[in-house]
Amino acid sequence: MSYPYQITSLEQYQEAYKKSLEDPEKFWQAVAENFQWRKKWDNVLSWNFSQPKVEWFSGAKLNITENCIDRHLAVMGDKPAIIWEPNNPEERTRVVTYNRLHKRVCQFAQVLKNNGVKKGDRVCIYMGMVPELAYAILGCARIGAIHSVIFGGFSAQSIADRLDDAQAEFIVTCDGAYRGGKDIPLKSVIDDALIGNKTIKKVIVYTRTRTPVSMIKGRDVWWEDEMLFAEDQLEKEGTINFPAAEMDAEDPLFILYTSGSTGKPKGVVHSCAGYMVWTTYTFVNVFNYQPGDIHFCTADIGWITGHSYIVYGPLSAGATSVMFEGIPTWPDAGRFWDIVDKYKVNILYTAPTAIRSLMGFGNGPLQGKHLDSLKILGTVGEPINEEAWHWYDENVGKKKCPIVDTWWQTETGGILISNLAGVTPSRPGWATLPLPGVQPLLVDDQGNEVQDKDENGYRKGNLCIKAPWPSILRTTYGDHERCRTNYFAAYPNLYFTGDGALQDEAGNFRITGRVDDVLNVSGHRIGTAEVENAINMHAGVVESAVVGYPHDVKGQGIYAFVIDSNTHGDEELTRKDILQTVTRIIGPIAKPDKIQFVNGLPKTRSGKIMRRILRKIAEGETENLGDITTLLDPAIVAEISKGRV
Ligand code: PRX
Repeated sequence: MSYPYQITSLEQYQEAYKKSLEDPEKFWQAVAENFQWRKKWDNVLSWNFSQPKVEWFSGAKLNITENCIDRHLAVMGDKPAIIWEPNNPEERTRVVTYNRLHKRVCQFAQVLKNNGVKKGDRVCIYMGMVPELAYAILGCARIGAIHSVIFGGFSAQSIADRLDDAQAEFIVTCDGAYRGGKDIPLKSVIDDALIGNKTIKKVIVYTRTRTPVSMIKGRDVWWEDEMLFAEDQLEKEGTINFPAAEMDAEDPLFILYTSGSTGKPKGVVHSCAGYMVWTTYTFVNVFNYQPGDIHFCTADIGWITGHSYIVYGPLSAGATSVMFEGIPTWPDAGRFWDIVDKYKVNILYTAPTAIRSLMGFGNGPLQGKHLDSLKILGTVGEPINEEAWHWYDENVGKKKCPIVDTWWQTETGGILISNLAGVTPSRPGWATLPLPGVQPLLVDDQGNEVQDKDENGYRKGNLCIKAPWPSILRTTYGDHERCRTNYFAAYPNLYFTGDGALQDEAGNFRITGRVDDVLNVSGHRIGTAEVENAINMHAGVVESAVVGYPHDVKGQGIYAFVIDSNTHGDEELTRKDILQTVTRIIGPIAKPDKIQFVNGLPKTRSGKIMRRILRKIAEGETENLGDITTLLDPAIVAEISKGRV
């Protein structure tokens, strides 16, 4: 495949950026010509942010799986689409060619059909990182069902809430998943999530760990049996092909839940055409993808990074995508480097938290690893500190691989601000410049564009985007008003990201972190209100307040201040009970790193908790806590500060 839209020099980037702003419709129409459409669009773009309503390529008909699979078959059917590396390095690798991917996705689409799934139905996917997860996602897309992948670290309660919100009717899961030295019993978590559920009709279970599972008659079916049956059916019809559903450009492709500043996660909805164009365009340009490159994105498909840069973007570009089942530190901290050498990986895309954690093992695990296939390195998910950036550059990239620092969000569908590898300059800690079509600006709390510069020549403000790019979220599932108030109401006619940023005089951006009540723990997004709700569920808790604090490896840690009713009880036991409660309600990823029992919280006379003060205490600040005179009980501040853990 060739990519006429590939940017190969700084001048070309500047030219493309300029054109994308002068005439967005002409610009994106030209990019969209490089995809396979059943019918082309009537209109490239119509939008207003006040509702919000955004439509790209409306009137067009397509199926994203024809772009990710079928269009590659004639010339590269035997090329690996997915190379799968199992958790246990002793186990056999699986190489899935585009031909094989086509067959499996068609079979699974038939399985979905046999089980009653129709276009527009919601299918929840709760699986480990096995190739079948990719088949499940693409099988849904082929039949036009809306997939909603839930990360394997979420608890039964979290799944139940998401199933209910999405009104899902089908689940695809595994008996269990391997992650490092642990086996995670996924099916039994699903069974717990389904207690009292009234909408789920079928659960399809893939066998991975051979963990004993209970299969409920009439509801639960085995993946393997269903796939064999589907294969027979399709073969009887002469050929293995499941005709792809014809989708409207703006039909929803998937829902992915993410945390916000309220207690309830939001179902971010992405639609077919815009998401496809953007993930492919950004994959090719940010990573400077060259045909034949082996791309390894270490994310889990339970998060947006895996959706966009393991599955849809690379496959639509006809690339080879490495999918890894395990974790970077098992059986030892050299695992990523072994995978890079084993498959001669050219592009490695990972998170700062993984880099910091591996850095903590020193250079021993890198001994004897070649890493000479690497051409490009990438990071995503959180700000990268300079120390980690330089370690990555020197020890992994051997100072010859450009590092792309890619800023984006679940809601943006793909990368919005990043240098282009080897094409535009990188700068440690800076995501640098916006992609063509992206118009970021910084506003103050009143919504005025920030003009003032500090002594370094930097502007500082809340990061907003002025106009839609093709893969902007379209709605939050079942509650469009929530989408409006969350993203489009803070500043009229702007999309508000929730992040703060700096901009230098050359236009480069540095993302400084969230300015709302959302934490970023090991690259996972967690709402403080969600964690508080979970802690407050514990019988012994009267009230709690959760804030983030800087953490060497995780980026941010979770600090909980808890008022406990059982003041004479065993604090250590209560602490463990609270951790267990959070694990049950959300999942282990949301467990507080620190819990401090307090007698009161700093509240204003109107009852609002002054988190600013708690944040400072959690960060270790004992003086300069700001104005505390407006507090109902100013004395509580000194008491909390003294008891810091
Ligand atoms: O705060 C930003 C941070 O991650 C948030 C989005 O999280 P999520 O929707 O889970 O998506 C993560 C993967 C795209 C953002 O609001 N973030 C993401 N990338 C960067 C980043 N912060 C700094 N630099 C980045 N490159």
